[in-house]
Amino acid sequence: MGGSYPALMALGMLKTAPAHAFNLEGNGKGKKILILGGGLCGMTSAYELTKLGYDCTILEARDRTGGRCWSIRKDSHNQELNSPKQIADFDQGQYFNAGPSRIPHHHLLTLHYCKEFGVPIQIYNNVNEAAYYYAEGKGPFSNQKIRMREIHNDMRGYMSELLYKSISQDELDLDLNKEDIDKILEYLRAEGGLDIDNLYKASARRGYAIPPSAGNQPGKVAEVFKLADILSSGLADPDFYNVAEYTYELQMTMFQAIGGMDRIAVALEEKVGSMIHKNAEVTKINNIENGVKVNYTEGGVPKEIIADVCICTIPLKVLSNLDHNFSSGVSRAIDYANYIDTCKIGLQFKRRFWEEDEQIYGGITHTNNELTQIFYPSNDYHAAKGVLLGYYNFNEKAVAVGNLSYAEREKLALTKGALIHPQYPKEFETSFSVCWQKTPYNLGGWAVYTSETRERIYKPLLQPEKQVYFAGEHMTYLNAWMAGAFESARSVVNEVNNRLSEKRNIYQKVGE
Ligand code: ALA
Repeated sequence: MGGSYPALMALGMLKTAPAHAFNLEGNGKGKKILILGGGLCGMTSAYELTKLGYDCTILEARDRTGGRCWSIRKDSHNQELNSPKQIADFDQGQYFNAGPSRIPHHHLLTLHYCKEFGVPIQIYNNVNEAAYYYAEGKGPFSNQKIRMREIHNDMRGYMSELLYKSISQDELDLDLNKEDIDKILEYLRAEGGLDIDNLYKASARRGYAIPPSAGNQPGKVAEVFKLADILSSGLADPDFYNVAEYTYELQMTMFQAIGGMDRIAVALEEKVGSMIHKNAEVTKINNIENGVKVNYTEGGVPKEIIADVCICTIPLKVLSNLDHNFSSGVSRAIDYANYIDTCKIGLQFKRRFWEEDEQIYGGITHTNNELTQIFYPSNDYHAAKGVLLGYYNFNEKAVAVGNLSYAEREKLALTKGALIHPQYPKEFETSFSVCWQKTPYNLGGWAVYTSETRERIYKPLLQPEKQVYFAGEHMTYLNAWMAGAFESARSVVNEVNNRLSEKRNIYQKVGE
């Protein structure tokens, strides 16, 4: 049928072949599976188990699904520990992603499910050389915004020049022949943009002081910074390492769901919504003979449910506070799990000054202050308004910022942000901040393991505790990514199905 296949697909008459179909054999008829948590892992588990005929129930503590896959829109709300309730007052159509905001191109399952559920995606611009570095400090380039392209090209140039000098002096004991050395020298000249004398000098790579234009305006290339000044200004410190290009998960191409990452959760809920009890807060998990008994409150009313198997996706920090009859080893593993502290704030502005005034379309500004990063939206370019991520920080900075009141966080984001974007005070409208370690039912950003805790905490939890299976991003090597939720869901569905259907399906995990 050659040419007609794409045409039929375009007309919606043929379904696209799933890129990573999950075809298990088994029959779940008459088997009850209780899933704790209506996040991506819990809902995907229900979605896949239902295909095999299992009878699934999901208990979700919140009045919404999606867990961390959460876009803050008008009327989104959160009540952090020891804090009042916060309600978002963004305009209709304005939003920011409080949890996952970017999808690596190699996260096959995340992309697979976007495709299977019909969630459209768009490019997420994670790398933008026009965004800024802002170093608070005492150096000549401290306390001013510097375009990333200036530092990146200066550092690449100087490092190439230094290496060129040391290699060409022939003092290095390299196991390379003359031809190889020449190739390296040529590579360094190109990589660093070295001039005819093999020195790093200003070039258009790092931008213009006067941009080229019509008539007699050829433009004027900006001067390079002195290496010593870059170093003393803190701009070669770890806060300004070029991580987006080094880190596998942050390399372009990256994607986001069009209209907010919560579109993925919404699409999943459309598939499994009838199985979900919202406002259902688990209080006790007990293995019983041949099954599991879970106590919970639904809208404040105590209830109990019995199932053949339970898939528990509750984050370990939360699970640690629940009553259960798990073995002491499993209980200890849960209690000692480590999660990252992390915070974000969304700032709605009445004008996209970062685009209009500064030609910044998506990408990230980096600072060494509490903000750590400012993210510019990769959607709706040139729209009238927009929401910036005013900070996205981790560890000690996130603890300090998370301990502020909502109003103090907003003030900090605006005060520090205005050092970079003086347009802030005039254009700001409203904010909403999320501190994940203080957010009930999460109590942390994502699981963090060392090689030691992989052995002591992670591995014991990979085994089911009698009829209870642990699942979620914390049960993978894809921590902090939606791909972890999806991979874990498939892995646990396979195990549960094999047990209850007495099958021996081998689930080929992505990467195996
Ligand atoms: N996945 C997290 C992020 O994109 C770490 O920031």
